[in-house]
Formats: sequence, structure tokens, C-alpha cells
Amino acid sequence: MRIKTVEIRPDAVVLIDQLALPGEERYVTCTTWREVAKAIRDMTVRGAPAIGVAAAGALALAAREAAFSHAGDRVGFDAALDEAAAGLAQTRPTAVNLSWAIGELRALWQRCEASPQECWLTLLARAREIHDDDIRRCYAIGAFGAALFAAGDTILTHCNAGALATAGYGTALGVIRACHERYDGAVSVFVDETRPWLQGARLTAWELSVEGIEYWLISDSMAGHFIARGEVDGIVVGADRIAANGDTANKIGTYTLSVLAKEHSLPFYVAAPLSTVDLAVAGGADIPIEERSADEVTHFRGLRVAPVGANARHPAFDITPQGNISAIITEAGVLRPPYDKALRRACGAARRAS
Ligand code: MRU
Repeated sequence: MRIKTVEIRPDAVVLIDQLALPGEERYVTCTTWREVAKAIRDMTVRGAPAIGVAAAGALALAAREAAFSHAGDRVGFDAALDEAAAGLAQTRPTAVNLSWAIGELRALWQRCEASPQECWLTLLARAREIHDDDIRRCYAIGAFGAALFAAGDTILTHCNAGALATAGYGTALGVIRACHERYDGAVSVFVDETRPWLQGARLTAWELSVEGIEYWLISDSMAGHFIARGEVDGIVVGADRIAANGDTANKIGTYTLSVLAKEHSLPFYVAAPLSTVDLAVAGGADIPIEERSADEVTHFRGLRVAPVGANARHPAFDITPQGNISAIITEAGVLRPPYDKALRRACGAARRAS
């Protein structure tokens, strides 16, 4: 089954509703950029590449609206797009794919000398290209990543870096999908439930069930137990932003896993497209970490799980230092330390090829 996470239509961005999964598979149709921004903010769509693709579709919607309301007024058209870009950029701060996608489209409308109507069509075409390109990148990541594992391996993953977090197929889950295909199903997965949003329990487990890939759902605190018993052969996770030195922001709890991997000499892989690399940021300390509402820790789906008045914190991401990462799996191949050189070379080659 092909999971349609984000569909970019001329008049709408259609999203699978990730708040309703796994109970219900339903779709949300956004006809304005503001509706897409709301969907990114409330996590109807989530996952770094997926929110980048959704933001690209949202800007195409903004351009459509502005092409009608500012048909002969280029200044008004540009101002409307600037407003949409700023609104979208504010939705979630950590995943760089969001600002990357906005930058890609901004470069186009700033260069576009045609009528607003034609500029809109150019932006729509680029947004769709970003969508399709993301799927191709995921397949390449999967193929490179599968070569790092062997038949019979058990892989641990955290959060959801699957088809639902991308335009399709997934990054970390793309590697697991590719292992499943390459080793005739002889691969199994430990899925961290990923408190507090339960992306592992709700979304990764759903994707693996749909694919028929064998998995065990575990609570985050069980990972060390299974690793210490030798039941895990490697860990693969996604990324929200990779700094120039290789330090990586990903879902809260990823850093803990990387420490466990190091302690037990286990390979720890980050799988991400090069659009997740931010060479403008030197190291992890400079990556903005989204702090979400503490209510998401004290409550689950409206049900209070902590005493009234409990203080809580909710950083949505943490930083895994580059020294804990065995390799970064990208669409351009498997990058090994020293990451500063490897990332600069890979991003430079990708820029020259585009
Ligand atoms: O808060 P989320 O669900 O958007 O966080 C998602 C993650 O941390 C993923 O691991 C990351 O975005 C990579 S998705 C291919």
C-alpha cells in the first residue's frame, strides 16, 4: 500500500491526518496556506521532510490566492508570499527542511519575472518536484542503508521516520523497508513508543503492520534492557537538522539511545536526506530546540496522567553529538566521520548537480 502523506493539488494540500492514526485513516484538505500552517503546528502533519513538502505546497496555495487578488500588482503578490513564508517558518523551529523548502520557493518567486499567474504555476511545479524528489531520496537512503545490515538482524528505531514523516517510504523506516525487501522479510524491529506523542506506537507500528514487517513495540525505557541482552544489532533514526559538524537534532530520547549504543559498541545510524543538513549551523548547541506545551507531558489525549499543578518540561528534540554517530545515511551515500568534510563534500556535489 502506498501511504499518501501529502498530496499537492493546484487548489489544495491534502494531508493524511496523523492525529487520527492508527484508529482512523482520514484526510484533511487545506485550501489556504494558513490551514497548512495550522496542520503543521498541531501535528496533523509531522516529520521533518513531510513538513517541508507541506510548506512548499502551502506556498503554492498562497501564490494561487495572491495571483488572483494581486493579478496586476507584483509588489502586492510578493508581499503576500513573504507573509505566508514568514507564517509557515514560525510553525516549528527545529526541522530545517521547513526553511529549506521555503528558501527553494522564495528563490523562484524572487527570480520570476512573469505574471503572478505564471509565477504561481512555477511554484506549484517546484512544490510537486520537491514532493517527488523526497520519495526518490528516501528510496536511495533505503538502498544505501540496507547494505549496512544483514539478514536476520533486529533493528531498533525511535519516533516515526517513515512514509508518514516524508513524502513516502521514509528515511530510517526506508532503511528498514529496504532491509525487509532485500533480506526476504528476515528482519525484525524494536519500535520505541516515543513518549509523549507516541509517534512510535501510533505511527511506526501502524506502518510496519501495514507492510507486514515483524516488530515489537517497547516503551522507551525498555531499550537499554534489550540492548544489554544483545537482542539489538543496530539502531537507525531520522533527523530534524544535522549541523555542519554532524551533531544531529532528532526526537527527544534519541540522544539517550546513542549513549546506549556507544556503551554497547552497537552501530548507531542517522538516516536523512541532504535537505536536513544545515551547514550554516556549526554544531548542535546552535540548533533551536522546540519546547512544546507541558500539557502534552501531564496529559495524554486530554486525560490527566500527573497531579494537578505538576511542573513539567517538554523539549521535543535533543542533540546527538557527532561522536556517537557511526554513519549518516543520505541519498548521496553513507557518510562516515569526519562529518564536517563528508557533509560539505556531499552538499557541494548535490548543489552542483541541481
Ligand atoms: O515531532 P515530530 O513527530 O515531527 O518529530 C519527528 C522526528 O523527530 C523524526 O525522527 C524526524 O523528523 C525525521 S523524519 C524522516
